[in-house]
Amino acid sequence: MVNDQAATLRTGAASDQSTGRPPSRLRCIAVGSGKGGVGKTMVSIGLACALARWKYNVLIIDADLGLANVDLQIGVEPVYTLQDVVFGSCPVEEAVLTTPYGPDLLASSSGAPEMVNMGGARRELLVNELIRFAGRYDFLIIDGAAGIGQSIVSFFSAAPEVAVVVANEPTSIMDAYSLIKVLRQNAQPPALRLVLNMVRTLGEGEQLAARLNLITRKFLGIEIPVAGVVPYDFVVGNAIRARKPVSAYAPGSAPARCLDDVARFFVKQSAVRKGEVPDGRSFFEKLADMGARGQGE
Ligand SMILES: Nc1ncnc2c1ncn2[C@@H]1O[C@H](COP(=O)(O)OP(=O)(O)O)[C@@H](O)[C@H]1O
Ligand SMILES: [Mg+2]
Repeated sequence: MVNDQAATLRTGAASDQSTGRPPSRLRCIAVGSGKGGVGKTMVSIGLACALARWKYNVLIIDADLGLANVDLQIGVEPVYTLQDVVFGSCPVEEAVLTTPYGPDLLASSSGAPEMVNMGGARRELLVNELIRFAGRYDFLIIDGAAGIGQSIVSFFSAAPEVAVVVANEPTSIMDAYSLIKVLRQNAQPPALRLVLNMVRTLGEGEQLAARLNLITRKFLGIEIPVAGVVPYDFVVGNAIRARKPVSAYAPGSAPARCLDDVARFFVKQSAVRKGEVPDGRSFFEKLADMGARGQGE
């Protein structure tokens, strides 16, 4: 069933290289949170691995320039990174790694230099290269940075879809709300979804989503759909220590099954409707800018 959907997706519109626009079947899901340490990387990897298991072509991009660690959590050692691509020395094909779990990975370097001005022509070339390369995938899953600084917000604002990861603690809830609020200030805000992580029970996750949606309804006039709930479970920490995705380390565990449900949610959602979201090109422009920005905000 899911495989059929993958096939349908793939026979959709082909990459439109003449206009420099990404193929319309490509889904770009950025994972954010406001607060750090709430499980963005774990969710990004879990989502990407489930989709890859169902035969979608998936690329994870590590866009957390401060604490780039997707490679660590998925157990690969990148030779080149997004920064090598951005600064022109490395074609994107060479920087992207295959992983033993299905998704490809474009890693990042944490110790990246301060922001470097790319220049308009270089930026244009790079954006076209990223768009051309992305044409081979069904899903891009982008592990974003914490915080609501200007560059982070402008990156998430350009994403067609943003999964906001929230844990049941006041700081996480407030920071998630702050991120949602600034993203909603855009003329064309991304489609937002919630992932409730590290909850004791699935019911606690539902309650947390209801509480957050009470606030967003009251102050922003919107309700955000719940993509899924992932319980707190020690297997997650063990999986990370073993440098394996949860689904590979503990298949059938509660977090692994819940991460599959999150992926199922995204598969079932039809691609975001045109006109409601930023155009795909601006997303790749922000991605290139993000790579050039290094650790300096
Ligand atoms: N569902 C969970 N159950 C138990 N521990 C979790 C869970 N999700 C995340 N963690 C723990 O939280 C830490 C931070 O997760 P990570 O994905 O790196 O967060 P972020 O990318 O938001 O900084 C991890 O080291 C992991 O051990
Ligand atoms: Mg992270």
